[in-house]
Amino acid sequence: MGERTVQAGGFRLTVGVPDRWAKAVRGAIGREAPPRGNQGDQPDGGLVVRPVLAVPFERRDPDAGLGFVRDRIRWRVDHRLEAAPDEVEDTAEALARCVAARPWYHTIELPHGIVTHGAYDNRALVPHYGIPADLRGQRVLDVASADGFWAFEFERRGATVTAVDIETTADVDLPGPVRERAAALGMADPITDGFALAKRALKSNVEHVTCTIYDLDPERLGRFDLVHAGDVLLHLRDPLGALEQLRRVTGGTALLSDVFDPALPDAPPGGGKPALYYGGGNAAWWRPSLGTLVQMVADTGFSDVEVVTTYQLAARGEPVGHWRAVMRATP
Ligand SMILES: C[S@@+](CC[C@H](N)C(=O)[O-])C[C@H]1O[C@@H](n2cnc3c(N)ncnc32)[C@H](O)[C@@H]1O
Repeated sequence: MGERTVQAGGFRLTVGVPDRWAKAVRGAIGREAPPRGNQGDQPDGGLVVRPVLAVPFERRDPDAGLGFVRDRIRWRVDHRLEAAPDEVEDTAEALARCVAARPWYHTIELPHGIVTHGAYDNRALVPHYGIPADLRGQRVLDVASADGFWAFEFERRGATVTAVDIETTADVDLPGPVRERAAALGMADPITDGFALAKRALKSNVEHVTCTIYDLDPERLGRFDLVHAGDVLLHLRDPLGALEQLRRVTGGTALLSDVFDPALPDAPPGGGKPALYYGGGNAAWWRPSLGTLVQMVADTGFSDVEVVTTYQLAARGEPVGHWRAVMRATP
C-alpha cells in the first residue's frame, strides 16, 4: 500500500492505494474533474463498447401494410362508389340509401332516425371526454376530423367549427415501401366524402378545410378557443412536429386524445421514458406509455397537461380496442 498525493482541479487529494493500482488511480484523479455523467470512472474517457451479434427485426410485407388503404378502396370498388353524391334528397329513403352506400369511420345520428354504420361509436364516450357543455361564441378546430363526429358535437354545443383533414388515403404518413406500393396501385381514396354527406344531412355549418396537421398555421386559420385532435398522433411519423403545429393554433385549450400502451412502464430501470414503435404497416407508428404521451405534449411547449380520462373503445367487430387518453393542454 502506498500513499499518493494528487493535484486535481485546484484540490490537493491524498489517497491510500495498493501499489498495483497506483498508476491507474494517478491517471484517473490527475485529470480535471470529469463532467457529470457516466464517464468518471471509465478508463477510456467514458467510452464503453459492447458488440452485439445480431438484433432481429421483422421484414414487413408492403402489401400487408396496405390494409388500411385497401379496405376502403375494396369497399368502394365493390359498391361501385365514385364519390359522394352532391345532393342528398330530404327523404328518409334517399338519405338511408346514400348512407348505406358508403363506409363510415364514425357512428353519427342523422335526421329521420338514420344512424351511420361507423367503425367507431363514440356516443357513450361523449360525457367523459371533457368537452365544455356550452361552447356558444367559441371557435373550435377539429383536426383529423374524418366523418366529423366530434366537429358536429362541438357545433351542437354552440361553437363555430372548422374541421381539418387530409384529402385522400395517399396523403397518410405511410412507410416508404407501403407508400410506393400504394402509388403503384393507384390507391388514393377520398377521406372526407362521408363528412360532406353528413354535413349536408345535418344542415351543418362546419367549415371543412383540406390541410395536413403539419401545415396548421395561425396566419391561415387563426387561433381557436378549443383545438381537438383525436387518434391522429399514432398515425404520424412526426407526432412532435404535429403537436407543435397544434399549439400554434391553440388560443385557449387543446383537447387531445390518443393511443397509449398501459403495459409500458413509465420509468424503466436506467431512466428515460419508452415509446414503442409498433407498426407503420397499417399507418400506425407509435404507441407510447401514458407518461411518454403526456411528456410529448409537454415537450412541444404546452405549459400544462392534464389527463381528463383514459378509455378503451373497440372498433366495430373487434373484441377489444387500444387504450386512449384524453388530455387537456394549455399552450
Ligand atoms: C383514426 S382517425 C380519427 C378520427 C377522429 N379524429 C376521431 O378522433 O374520432 C384518423 C384521422 O386522421 C386523419 N389524418 C391522418 N394523417 C393526417 C394528417 N397528416 N393531417 C391531418 N389529418 C390526418 C385521417 O385522415 C383520419 O381522418
